[in-house]
Formats: sequence, C-alpha cells, structure tokens
Amino acid sequence: MKIFKAQSSDASELYALEQKLFLSKNYPLSRASFYYHIKNNMLFVAEIDKKIVGYILVLIKRKNAKLYSIGVKEEFRGRKIAQNLLEFSIKELSNIGFNSLLLEVRVDNHEAIKLYKKAGFIMKKSLNKFYLDGCDAYLMELLYASKKL
Ligand SMILES: CC(C)(COP(=O)(O)OP(=O)(O)OC[C@H]1O[C@@H](n2cnc3c(N)ncnc32)[C@H](O)[C@@H]1OP(=O)(O)O)[C@@H](O)C(=O)NCCC(=O)NCCS
Repeated sequence: MKIFKAQSSDASELYALEQKLFLSKNYPLSRASFYYHIKNNMLFVAEIDKKIVGYILVLIKRKNAKLYSIGVKEEFRGRKIAQNLLEFSIKELSNIGFNSLLLEVRVDNHEAIKLYKKAGFIMKKSLNKFYLDGCDAYLMELLYASKKL
C-alpha cells in the first residue's frame, strides 16, 4: 500500500468510492467537491496495485485543521489502511506547523470512534442533532507536536 497526494485525475475514482462509503445522510462529497479539495485542502489517497482503496481529507483553515472525511473500500478494511492515512496526515500537518486536529463523528460510528481513540483523539463535547438524520456527533481533538515554530 502506498500513500500519495491526490491529483485532479483522481477525482472520478474518489467520487465513485465515496458513493459506496457514504449514504446521503452522511453528506457524501460530490465530484466537484473532490476537485475543489484536491486543489485547496489536504487529500491523500491509499493505493494498492495503482487503484485507490482509501482516502483522507483534512480541511486546512488559517488556524486549525479538521479531519473532514476518511474512508476505506470495504474489501480492504482491517488492514490498517485508515490508521496509516491518519498517521501520514498528522506527520504532514506537523511539518507545516499545525499542532492539533479536530473532527466530528457520528456517535453511532463505533469503528471510526475506535480508530480515532486509538490515534489519541479525545472527546471534547457532544453536538446535539449534528447530522441531517438527527444523529448526534462527538467533537474530538488530537494534540501533537508541531515541527515548525
Ligand atoms: C472507519 C474506517 C475508515 C476504518 O478503516 P480501516 O482501514 O478498516 O481501519 P484500520 O484497519 O486502519 O483500523 C485501525 C483501528 O481502527 C479501529 N477499527 C477499525 N475498524 C474497526 C471495526 N470494524 N471494529 C472495531 N474497531 C475498528 C481499531 O481500533 C483498529 O485498530 P486494531 O485493529 O489494532 O484494533 C472504515 O471502516 C470505513 O471506511 N468506514 C466507512 C466510512 C466512515 O465511516 N468513515 C469515518 C467517518 S468520516
């Protein structure tokens, strides 16, 4: 498995993967959004045999970074692909001067919550009815060292 910065030419493959990963209630990204995020944010893809099997999207704001989305193709789950994508992104964020990463996660997404806790994220608060279907979210945060002063 190799991790690369996503290119514009990856947008269609990412969009196809997104359709499989997220139902409409989870705000799936459109093809146009992928083009936008590839240019303006941090989007890494995990590839096996030159095919995208997972991705991570981190939104880069002036003062903070937010993990917006992470997903791995069903048949490739349980191989630490998400964990590697997360660790890779945290290293990159640290290199460019960030020292924290925020995210929101559905309270019923137990796999993702376990992934984030394992990476060191802690729960900051609950967000009431955060999702379109009325599901609550946890706001979670990871603090780490920045390599840039
Ligand atoms: C959540 C998701 C990204 C995990 O991807 P993955 O590559 O299978 O995860 P990894 O193999 O890297 O697992 C790393 C850790 O996460 C946790 N985890 C991942 N999948 C899990 C599962 N099915 N059950 C319990 N814990 C799980 C575990 O702590 C695991 O470490 P361990 O195996 O040593 O216990 C994947 O299930 C997915 O794409 N889900 C649908 C999209 C989604 O909900 N994304 C998150 C919200 S944006």
